[in-house]
Amino acid sequence: MSTDSTRKTIMVALGVCLVCSVLVSTAAVSLKSIQDRNRRLDKLRNILDAGNISYAAADIQKLFNEKIEADIIELQSGTILSEDDYTDLLSPEKFDIKAMAKNRRYNRNLTAGADLAQIRQIPKYMTVYWVREAGRVEKVILPIYGKGLWSTMYGFIALDSNGVTVQGFTFYEHGETPGLGGEVDNPAWKRSWIGKRICDAAGNLKIEVIKNKVNPADANAVHRIDGLSGATITTRGVNDLVRFWLGENGYGHFLERLWEGESPWAK
Ligand SMILES: Cc1cc2nc3c(=O)[nH]c(=O)nc-3n(C[C@H](O)[C@H](O)[C@H](O)COP(=O)(O)O)c2cc1C
Repeated sequence: MSTDSTRKTIMVALGVCLVCSVLVSTAAVSLKSIQDRNRRLDKLRNILDAGNISYAAADIQKLFNEKIEADIIELQSGTILSEDDYTDLLSPEKFDIKAMAKNRRYNRNLTAGADLAQIRQIPKYMTVYWVREAGRVEKVILPIYGKGLWSTMYGFIALDSNGVTVQGFTFYEHGETPGLGGEVDNPAWKRSWIGKRICDAAGNLKIEVIKNKVNPADANAVHRIDGLSGATITTRGVNDLVRFWLGENGYGHFLERLWEGESPWAK
């Protein structure tokens, strides 16, 4: 066989492919547990972020276990699911929003008129996270998601234990343009959510991300958040997804229970 025969070239190419695929598969398999762990810790970090709990140099898992308690709620009734009803997919530890939204057993189709967040299907259940300080529930953290301009944005909104005042806001996954829609990650903008009230005294949903800057003299300033400049579509997406999740198809029924003074965490 001559050194530059077609057969030899193909054999060498196949050999290189085989060695590379073995190396890549071995790396993928051996790194999977580390990746899973990092993904899980990243999610915990984001929940702590939303709850405004600082975690610098802390053992994330330990801090999370100390401060946070999770429950599954049924969105349409706003009630907390009993642990007896947990399944392989339906428990705070296993809950995966994307998988739940696609699973026919656990999702519900949204009509175009109701689908303000543009997600098409919504899980029937969601995980909520309670933040405890000195044994008392201080905040509740709610997962939220919906369409921006380029991507579906996933995040959390934290409210006080009465379910009225925003205590934190963050996105942990999105594909908006850095410097434009990507300014949803801007720490100053995220901080500007804190203290805003989601509803008025009568329980009407009032929170709104407006196109421009909030005028502090505006009677509704306490419900309004500045829009992101040069990112009108992302801004509209954030407004729509927040209003969707805090409304009747999202956490509305659950929030009504909080507003009525029920203490669903007193189990
Ligand atoms: C490369 C590129 C990336 C953009 N990324 C975003 C984005 O992430 N979010 C957004 O709302 N608009 C984005 N825009 C701008 C929109 O196309 C649109 O012009 C903008 O939302 C209008 O906002 P304005 O009225 O504040 O100028 C992008 C535009 C370009 C050319």
